[in-house]
Amino acid sequence: KGDSMADKVFIFDTTLRDGEQVPGAKLARDQKVEIARQLAVLNVDIIEAGFPASSPGDFESVQAVAKTVKGPVITGLARAVKKDIDTLWDAVKVAKRPRIHTFLGTSDIHIQKKFRADREKILQWCVDTVKYARSLCRDVEFSTEDASRTDFEYLCRTVDAIVKAGATTINIPDTVGYATPMEMADRVRRLKEKVPGLDHAILSMHCHDDLGMSTANTLAGILAGARQAEVTVNGIGERAGNASLEEVVLAIKTRKDIFTGLYTDVNTKEIAKTSRMVSKLMGLPIQRNKAIVGSNAFAHSSGIHQDGIIKDRSTYEIIRPEDVGVTAHTFALTARSGRAALKHHISGMGHRLTDAQLAEIYEKFLVLADKKKEVLVEDLEILVQDTLFKVPETYKLINLQILSGTKATPMAALKVQRNNEVIEEAATGNGPIDAAYKCIERIVGANFQLIDFGLNAVTSGKDAIGEARVRIRSNGTIFSGGASSTDIIEAAIKAYLSAINRWVAAEAKTTTGKKGAAKKALPAPIEAP
Ligand code: KIV
Ligand code: ZN
Repeated sequence: KGDSMADKVFIFDTTLRDGEQVPGAKLARDQKVEIARQLAVLNVDIIEAGFPASSPGDFESVQAVAKTVKGPVITGLARAVKKDIDTLWDAVKVAKRPRIHTFLGTSDIHIQKKFRADREKILQWCVDTVKYARSLCRDVEFSTEDASRTDFEYLCRTVDAIVKAGATTINIPDTVGYATPMEMADRVRRLKEKVPGLDHAILSMHCHDDLGMSTANTLAGILAGARQAEVTVNGIGERAGNASLEEVVLAIKTRKDIFTGLYTDVNTKEIAKTSRMVSKLMGLPIQRNKAIVGSNAFAHSSGIHQDGIIKDRSTYEIIRPEDVGVTAHTFALTARSGRAALKHHISGMGHRLTDAQLAEIYEKFLVLADKKKEVLVEDLEILVQDTLFKVPETYKLINLQILSGTKATPMAALKVQRNNEVIEEAATGNGPIDAAYKCIERIVGANFQLIDFGLNAVTSGKDAIGEARVRIRSNGTIFSGGASSTDIIEAAIKAYLSAINRWVAAEAKTTTGKKGAAKKALPAPIEAP
């Protein structure tokens, strides 16, 4: 650890806000709380839990996080309008350490094209907003949206004014992922020189990855004096995503020679688990070669590299996998492993389960162990996640029969349960999965646009578990689904049904949901008090 607070880099996690903006990644309240709890175990400093004014559902989720998650500062995003800020404050004020985070575009492009205003009017709007937020909360973060394309002199004036108005953290986002590292470092350094008030506030980085430079830009800003990094787990986020938590944290930890005296409080051993949880619950697979958390990140394939690793790990390894919670498969469970052994391993993975949940997992485990010789830790993680984070299983697969062959027309016959009713359908298609999906659409009585379909072996060997992931669109909204099985066709069908079950749950929510969700049009700015 460093010697002073000035050396600490605060980790502001926005997985649940910027990350959740990824189409199809929307979380139910309990899922959000589960991820936020894990972020607290990971020991991030600030959790941005959502955008409460965007929907009544998100308001409830952010409030649930503020009520139940202990440790980090809890915040959410609000546009610079009174109604959004009041809604955000209502959601987070129960937290022990709440923060208001609000923003306004400051580049000429935003000022002229979005607001049809001028610089002076926007500057005053920023100041009034900060003053209003400070009247509610002592911890106020202000983001000058599109800061990297904002005129530098104007940015300095704006930052100076909002610091004087009482903002405690100033975030200068690279909203469109346009900056380069040297330019970013130069901006941060000059901004700190020109605005002495920044000595008493935290300067924050929030970089997007449109040109693949989000991590580099974040780190460049930190080297130049910024002390908060806004990041997401697995780098998920709007468009190409945000700077990834694991990359920023591990760069600071691994390159102590460059980031002299700097540290974060993140418990890196929790990174792999957090990454898997986010990927699973949001339905966003991680690319294999993703730094730190990709499945190949620590796999040495070249013979020369393997030889080096055997002689001395430091030859080709700069991060010890165990430091980020990646462990070798140190155990394998078989059909003969009892309930107690299963419980022991699951609690070792950090899950707390009720007896009923354990019983459900044990049943699934026995079925799997029958199909596979050995059940690995990754298999078990999937079973646990499937049990813990499920939406109501309105549609459930009871039986499937597939006819397929090089000459035969592929055909599927499915038996699906909907509540207490069992429905049977048969259809032909271009392939067995196409035929099965046609059956499902007939059973559900709705058509969906299949926008993404992927099959992946999550464990190795011929008896590996195949994981299917689908994303479907209905009326402009995207729903993700995933399922795993040693039978890939069964996995594909169950994945489709799980996306449809999410759609059913969302439909039920919109018809019973509260009225008065935030309107699209921007309400009037906050007037000077
Ligand atoms: O990218 C961005 O500018 C944002 C801000 C609202 C912080 O997400
Ligand atoms: Zn962003």
